[in-house]
Amino acid sequence: MNNDVIIRFTDVHKKYKSEGIDFKALDGVSLEIHKGEFLGISGKSGSGKTTLLNVAGLIDRPTRGELIIKDHKISSLDDDSLSEIRAKEIGFIFQTFNLLPMLSALENVEYPLMLMGLDAIERRKMAEEALRKVGLDLVKNHKPSQMSGGQRQRVAIARAIVKNPSIILADEPTANLDSKTSQEVFDLLVQLQRELHITVLLCSHDNDIISQTKRVIKIADGKIIEEKRL
Ligand SMILES: Nc1ncnc2c1ncn2[C@@H]1O[C@H](COP(=O)(O)OP(=O)(O)OP(=O)(O)O)[C@@H](O)[C@H]1O
Ligand SMILES: [Mg+2]
Repeated sequence: MNNDVIIRFTDVHKKYKSEGIDFKALDGVSLEIHKGEFLGISGKSGSGKTTLLNVAGLIDRPTRGELIIKDHKISSLDDDSLSEIRAKEIGFIFQTFNLLPMLSALENVEYPLMLMGLDAIERRKMAEEALRKVGLDLVKNHKPSQMSGGQRQRVAIARAIVKNPSIILADEPTANLDSKTSQEVFDLLVQLQRELHITVLLCSHDNDIISQTKRVIKIADGKIIEEKRL
């Protein structure tokens, strides 16, 4: 594979069965994403954006077609191998932040490292560094309820980057934020993508945000119907 391609979809289909009826959430998606690229994904509600991210994030398997991530041919791997690749290579950011309410910012960022079995001192050091990168050192001991929406999403971004993933998948990361905070969160993602050479896939309904991404694909009915580059 061309060394520069980090994610390759080849005629990927994803069908869901609901009440006995097949529904094509992805309908023949072919797409190459290069290392360090920032890809925007737009499309109406129900068009297949989250499904595309879930397939790229190894949460869902394609029902047909092939997906290659960092030279791993997904169809030939078992679920444990997929979990391992996901844990090491992929960070997720969600619309609703998905932080654990009982844990401080620092503990939330440490959490994935704990699951990876890193020791406490190493974990703390890495989490503090990630929180510094997103500009939150001063509120690292706050719980999510003691932070603004923008700060919460920054914690989620720190949690996504703390394990040095090569790919970040962001599903409507600004949908719960006002426009000024949305722009700040987007700028932070662009900055981290550049500094850390991360590949970012971001889906959004927000035209102001999506129009700033270097490359945008538009999805309708599980198909890529348009591609634009800035
Ligand atoms: N687990 C599932 N079981 C059955 N159908 C599903 C499942 N997940 C998604 N779908 C269907 O697949 C289609 C695509 O859903 P998806 O969540 O990818 O859309 P989306 O573009 O992310 O929408 P939104 O902008 O509202 O988040 C929808 O019609 C949805 O109902
Ligand atoms: Mg969605």
